[in-house]
Amino acid sequence: MSKNYRHELVGCMGDPVDGNPTGAMTEAGFAHAGLNWRYLTLKVEAGALDDAVAGAKAFNMRGFNLTMPHKIDVLKHLDALSDAARVIGAVNTVVCRADGTLFGENTDGKGFVQSLRDAGVALEGKSVAILGAGGAARSIGVECALAGARTIAVINRNAARGAALVDTINTHTGAKAGFIPWTGTAKVPEGTDIFINATCVGLFPDVDACPDVDFDGVRPGMVACDVVFNPAETPFLKNAAARGAKCVDGLGMLVNQGCINYGLWTGQPAPRDVMYDALKREFE
Ligand SMILES: NC(=O)c1ccc[n+]([C@@H]2O[C@H](COP(=O)([O-])OP(=O)(O)OC[C@H]3O[C@@H](n4cnc5c(N)ncnc54)[C@H](OP(=O)(O)O)[C@@H]3O)[C@@H](O)[C@H]2O)c1
Repeated sequence: MSKNYRHELVGCMGDPVDGNPTGAMTEAGFAHAGLNWRYLTLKVEAGALDDAVAGAKAFNMRGFNLTMPHKIDVLKHLDALSDAARVIGAVNTVVCRADGTLFGENTDGKGFVQSLRDAGVALEGKSVAILGAGGAARSIGVECALAGARTIAVINRNAARGAALVDTINTHTGAKAGFIPWTGTAKVPEGTDIFINATCVGLFPDVDACPDVDFDGVRPGMVACDVVFNPAETPFLKNAAARGAKCVDGLGMLVNQGCINYGLWTGQPAPRDVMYDALKREFE
């Protein structure tokens, strides 16, 4: 018998994961490429990660994504980290290498930077303002800095979290970062070129929620980006577009980080158009 019926396994571990469309997107890519690979969307509760990682090894999984609440907890299981993941301090993608060791990468910010490039937006020399200082903001802040942003303003309610991201950027990159406390209505910092909502405000089911921002500070020519991908057209982006900003939604970031993961796991270029179409179908 020559046919190989065995699946190569990747997946996502987190809680909640029920609304995570990454599997549909990634499996569309596998099917298109004729790969007998599966992406398993796995509910792994806080406290169950040790068993889950042991299970991934037992199942000979080729890799897995981490989402809430495991992006930091997974670090203790990893044998090696990318430079960016070490600086960011969190991992969203693990590659199970042939020698049995686990390599951690963080592809959220890389996917975001690629979505800017896809929209024809360069980061070199730009002034970036980021709302939020959580996991997505950390990854985006570090990758924007590494991609050549000149200044990065971090606007956050929790001062310790905001200051920690600023410190990370100033210590490990050539960009100059500063912290702006978010009390009341946030002002867009003077001279901002790229304004990013990296909070979860606006995420389904709170689709009418908008970050408390004075949108009169948004001017034509500014680029406004949202990490929220469900829905893709958020109140933040609608308000920014109404002031003439060029908008970049969170779907591009999601598909781009999925494509980077696909490449890390399979060693093949991802069929991006196929994966993007599959993702868009999930939100129709
Ligand atoms: N498009 C993609 O590919 C992609 C990838 C990863 C994540 N995401 C999205 O990114 C978002 C953030 O995820 P995360 O992992 O960074 O979450 P997180 O670590 O929990 O951080 C959430 C951040 O949002 C801020 N925040 C929450 N509610 C707020 C409010 N009402 N007003 C102002 N700030 C508020 C928090 O501020 P405090 O620190 O002050 O509490 C914190 O900085 C989620 O919507 C997630 O779906 C998208």
